[in-house]
Amino acid sequence: MNFELNEEQLAVQAAARDFAQKQCLEGVIERDTHMTHPTELLKQMGELGFMGMMVDPKYNGGGMDTLSYVLAIEEISKVDNSCSVAMSVNNSLVCWGLEKYGTEAQKEKYLKPLASGELIGAFALSEPEAGSDATSQKTTAIDKGDHYLVNGTKNWITNGGKASIYLVIAQTDADKGHKGINVLIIEKGMEGFTIGAKEDKLGIRSSDTHSLLFTDVKVPKENRIGEDGFGFKFAMQTLAGGRIGIAAQALGIAAGAFELALKYSQERKAFGKEIAKHQAIAFKLADMATEIEAARLLVYKAAILKDQGKDYNQASAMAKVFASEVAMKTTVEAVQVHGGYGYVKEYHVERLMRDAKITQIYEGTSEIQRIVISRSVLG
Ligand code: CAA
Repeated sequence: MNFELNEEQLAVQAAARDFAQKQCLEGVIERDTHMTHPTELLKQMGELGFMGMMVDPKYNGGGMDTLSYVLAIEEISKVDNSCSVAMSVNNSLVCWGLEKYGTEAQKEKYLKPLASGELIGAFALSEPEAGSDATSQKTTAIDKGDHYLVNGTKNWITNGGKASIYLVIAQTDADKGHKGINVLIIEKGMEGFTIGAKEDKLGIRSSDTHSLLFTDVKVPKENRIGEDGFGFKFAMQTLAGGRIGIAAQALGIAAGAFELALKYSQERKAFGKEIAKHQAIAFKLADMATEIEAARLLVYKAAILKDQGKDYNQASAMAKVFASEVAMKTTVEAVQVHGGYGYVKEYHVERLMRDAKITQIYEGTSEIQRIVISRSVLG
């Protein structure tokens, strides 16, 4: 097994680290406090090629592998998870499915500006009463011949207010269960489509999370992705890849908190020596480093399986469930290592601790990941 990154992967990692430390770090606390969207940073990420990293260059993408994408998310997530979640949704949940299943016309019209970062995309599956139970969609897309008539509400949609293009999952024929679900491309500005309230969240506070409201929105048939009834499988496949991005985010949160705890523990003195030299702290650091490395191996393995064209459904669920638990545990410990300083905003670890929690919830809760893994294990 080869654990070395190649030159291109190392270059992407270095570029993302540089961007995160030089551009994202400044102002991250203020953006978090005031829920200020990182609009300018996302524009720069588009210019750097981070918004459509795996997309074919002929559609304005970076043509990179999934591992490079994971490395970039990991670095940015050490600093600003509102940037990395916007990036993850645009790359994994929007560009990926459009490239794999979209028509040539859809790719020309929608994928190109999304992959270049000129426009931002959102993925709208969750509803007030259907998040984990994704087949219970209440949003309807009724077939009217040349168009669908869409009605319903979506909740907690990342990039909800700032996106221009939305992939919306909706029920066309409830009698057919999951085979009656479609995925439609809906543009901001279509008549009857309104953006609901912005959520005031525990973490990833400057990421743009909204509800979406659809009232008799006419969506042309050519905006459906795939065959009639393909929407649920589209969503499941998209989320299986998306979970690699969120697992990488969780890994970055853990690694960022660890780096801060390591640095602080080598500077702060107590009882006559640096606190890192007290076994109580040294052992915490040892556990953090070990668990982060285990999470990294799972996340990179899921990315490599995807790059090899192999089944990554189980691997992405394992990576997400494990890395998000490591993120939660590591950030709590990083706050503890910092003592009172860890509890104030200036030292960054409390923000990472708040950000870590969402990685156990979005793109499938830890409980959903365990359903996916246990079904796979049980055959
Ligand atoms: N790839 C392809 N097909 C898949 C699949 C996958 N990964 N997973 C399931 N399917 C197919 C199955 O093969 C089955 O097809 P057939 O009937 O033809 O055999 C069909 O889909 C139905 O599958 P299940 O019977 O397994 O479906 P289920 O109702 O039991 O649900 C579930 C399974 C895993 C619980 C699923 O509902 C799920 O993943 N739920 C969580 C959804 C989720 O992640 N929500 C988060 C919202 S998005 C978000 O957070 C984005 C954001 O803004 C950051």
